[in-house]
Amino acid sequence: MGINVLIIGSGGREHAIAWKLSQSPKLKKLWVLPGNAGIEDYAETVDIKETDINAICKFVENNTIDLTIVGPEIPLAAGITDTLNHQGFRVVGPTKAAAQLETSKSFAKKIMHENNIPTAHSETFTDAFLAKEYIHKLESLVVIKADGLAAGKGVTVCDNSKEAEAAIEKILIKKAYGDAGTKILVEERMFGRETSAHAFTDGISVKHMPFSCDHKPVYDNNLGPNTGGMGVYSPPLWLSDEIRKDIEQNITERIIKSMAQNKTPYTGILYPGLMITKTGPRVVEFNARFGDPETEVLLPKLETDLLEIFDAIGDKRLSEIEVEWNNNASVGVILASGGYPDSYEIGKRIHGLDNIDSNVQIFMSGVKSDENNSLYTAGGRVLCLVASGSSIDEARELAYSNVNRISFEGMHYRTDIGSAS
Ligand code: AMP
Ligand code: GLY
Repeated sequence: MGINVLIIGSGGREHAIAWKLSQSPKLKKLWVLPGNAGIEDYAETVDIKETDINAICKFVENNTIDLTIVGPEIPLAAGITDTLNHQGFRVVGPTKAAAQLETSKSFAKKIMHENNIPTAHSETFTDAFLAKEYIHKLESLVVIKADGLAAGKGVTVCDNSKEAEAAIEKILIKKAYGDAGTKILVEERMFGRETSAHAFTDGISVKHMPFSCDHKPVYDNNLGPNTGGMGVYSPPLWLSDEIRKDIEQNITERIIKSMAQNKTPYTGILYPGLMITKTGPRVVEFNARFGDPETEVLLPKLETDLLEIFDAIGDKRLSEIEVEWNNNASVGVILASGGYPDSYEIGKRIHGLDNIDSNVQIFMSGVKSDENNSLYTAGGRVLCLVASGSSIDEARELAYSNVNRISFEGMHYRTDIGSAS
């Protein structure tokens, strides 16, 4: 028989999902929409925009897709899951109402507050004058956040009130993030190390994934503006079992239970971003999907058939599945276009990919191929190079010795991924 699967998205995350699903004996045919040049090795790519819900639904119907996997948050925010479910199709990804955990930071704060889940204190504003007045009354440093989706860039961690004022103006007055910034959150700044938790859920049962750590600022030593993520390592050895369990039970499982009780059951992948502060773990944000580049590092560690997990989520029988992971340490390094996360040029020829060690994986995001199959840059984050080993040091060494063989004009990357593991 076999299962027909559609993945929505075009990043390294979707490349990693496609790579993993392509190994499943249960797979009949795999499509990725819109996909990218790297994904073409595993799946048929489809030229439909990930926001074109009507066209996606028609495609699902015409190709008898059994299961649709939603990679990014934008189609979730547009209600892709609701529309497909309504037509009787199975989806891995939350409904529009449940995805608000990511798409509305004020919604997430409310749920956390109701469930006693530790997070930074925050206030919401639509008026720049009142927001500025508020920060001047505070003693602590603040973080300014656009309420809606801003591709991971709507957050400014401020070192002083001048920076906070500039961020308030950028969002509320200059409308740098459009409608995503009609509301802002002024949040207490937390201090500590960050980690990403990920879990599969069918709304009832929860299967936790290994913890991983992203590096969001663009430059080494966490300097410069935030990006979508410049590299990941897993596992973080500095995270104790006790804190891990605390996060799994008192944050991830509690939020999923509460969503079910509120009649907005949450299904798919839940990814809480956390800061481990002196007073314990606190939520920085929730994401309604797999992280990118976390996925590129997590999926090579998964021993269980990913399609079996997704199929069980689709049928709401995740409790029947044993999910197993290997103990490898992994490091993923993002190679980005010159200028990213600000403006950057694309169309630069990528060299050296045929020179990579066979035990290293490349997951592509902003990459296009021409008629001769030569590869060119087509986005800010271009590719993620992932290496594994028996320790993070070993994985890091292997990763960077291969990074040095790849080049394109303007290429930049962090040289310290995993060095504080
Ligand atoms: P977010 O998009 O909410 O995950 O924020 C992006 C990044 O900004 C996080 O990964 C943190 O590094 C930082 N950040 C967000 N909120 C806070 C906070 N309240 N205190 C300190 N850093 C924060
Ligand atoms: N790695 C950050 C994110 O996916 O939001």
